[in-house]
Amino acid sequence: MIIAIDGPAASGKGTLAKEIAAAYGLHHLDTGLLYRAVAKAMLDAGARLDDAARAAELAGALDPSRFDEATLKSQAVGEAASVVSAIPAVREVLLAYQREFAARPPGAVLDGRDIGTVIAPAADVKIFVTAIPQMRAARRTLELRARGESVNEAEVFADIQRRDERDSNRGAAPLRPASDAHLLDTTDLDIEAAFRAAVEIIEAARTGRKHG
Ligand code: DC
Repeated sequence: MIIAIDGPAASGKGTLAKEIAAAYGLHHLDTGLLYRAVAKAMLDAGARLDDAARAAELAGALDPSRFDEATLKSQAVGEAASVVSAIPAVREVLLAYQREFAARPPGAVLDGRDIGTVIAPAADVKIFVTAIPQMRAARRTLELRARGESVNEAEVFADIQRRDERDSNRGAAPLRPASDAHLLDTTDLDIEAAFRAAVEIIEAARTGRKHG
């Protein structure tokens, strides 16, 4: 079974994907980490973030088994990831790895921006997670502070708006729900309630398939 979970920054898709993978015994891939790792490699190399050839080269040299999630999750790396992820050659290089990951038995949950539209268009279940930007900013602020970053909520809100704008309006694989995705708005849901809502969507899709 392949489950695609897409949505904007800080919508809660990562936590949800992790919990669903654990509940169903599936592998989990946070695809944002791949773009964050390319961005971090570009920053470390002192490269310009719009240097497409360099970004593609560094994307090809990534080793996901050595990712340091704590470093990759910082605000600065997330902002840079939004820039390098708009480079078509970077997306092209990362495509094969994501498709291979999705094909690993017994199946996987992948979360990102283009899982349901590009990476796994034939996924068994697609969920598009949303929440109003104010709520996403509040959650991301708490998360970054828990990681030890001293951030200001107004700045996080501005960053989220910039990223929404960039991720949705780029030419290559823009952020948008697949036509057959189920929308899940987590604005008024805590983690537990969002998880239950997602399981309902998954179970309905599985039952529908069996009877359909
Ligand atoms: O989900 P995240 O915040 O870790 O993602 C960081 C950036 O990577 C995000 O701004 C856009 C990009 N991204 C993408 O373009 N496609 C994906 N499948 C996942 C992330």
